[in-house]
Amino acid sequence: MKYIVGNWKMNQTLSTIRDFFLVLEKTRMEFMCQAWIAPQFVHVPIVKDLAFTLGKIKVGAQNCSEYNNGAYTGDVSASTLADLGISFVIIGHSERRSIFKETHEMLKIKTALCFENNMKVIFCVGETLAERKSGQTLNVLKTQLEQGLKGLKAKPEQLLIAYEPVWAIGTGEAASAGEASEAHRFIRQELATLFPGIVIPILYGGSVKPDNIKDFLAQEAVDGALVGGASLKGEDFKALCNHASIFS
Ligand code: PGA
Repeated sequence: MKYIVGNWKMNQTLSTIRDFFLVLEKTRMEFMCQAWIAPQFVHVPIVKDLAFTLGKIKVGAQNCSEYNNGAYTGDVSASTLADLGISFVIIGHSERRSIFKETHEMLKIKTALCFENNMKVIFCVGETLAERKSGQTLNVLKTQLEQGLKGLKAKPEQLLIAYEPVWAIGTGEAASAGEASEAHRFIRQELATLFPGIVIPILYGGSVKPDNIKDFLAQEAVDGALVGGASLKGEDFKALCNHASIFS
């Protein structure tokens, strides 16, 4: 089964969210893939309600606090998300790492808290352009995986990895299918040591669109896509899920 995960980032309004679901409702489509959406925290309950009437779509969050609960003004805990019935949390997106300065240690704590609260985690890794150009890609991926995940216990399919080269995010310059496959194969190798015997889907992210998704899904090493810009409109999300359904 292939995955399409929409990362809405800090986008959408109540009205664009309703439009999104109107498009999906009108087509009454049956996705044969895993169709997941991560809206902003405050939109989670409404997206969950709208997704519930459609069925099949899972709703997640884009981040969670590294603290359990208590006096942490402005933060949202993993246990609060679990209480809302959230299925998954994206951890370690490159925007969290670079803009919000989240460290490997913080990401590991957040991942552990999500696991404790029985949620799935999409753990993001990826190199910058400078790191790719200097031949550091695989080293960077290894460090991010080891420092962020080593020693954690995951149940099968509780952990997913998103390989998102930073230079491909929001730039229109997607990695080639070959580049994605090479990175995914390396990640799979590393995961075999970190989580022996556990099934861990690996998604590609970075400028995925309805017109290039096939190239990625056709790769045996690619289990799906984490999609930003092209997941915001119902028409595009539907097109992405249609492609994924064919490959599922
Ligand atoms: P993009 O973003 O699809 O807009 O490149 C992907 C992501 O950041 O997850």
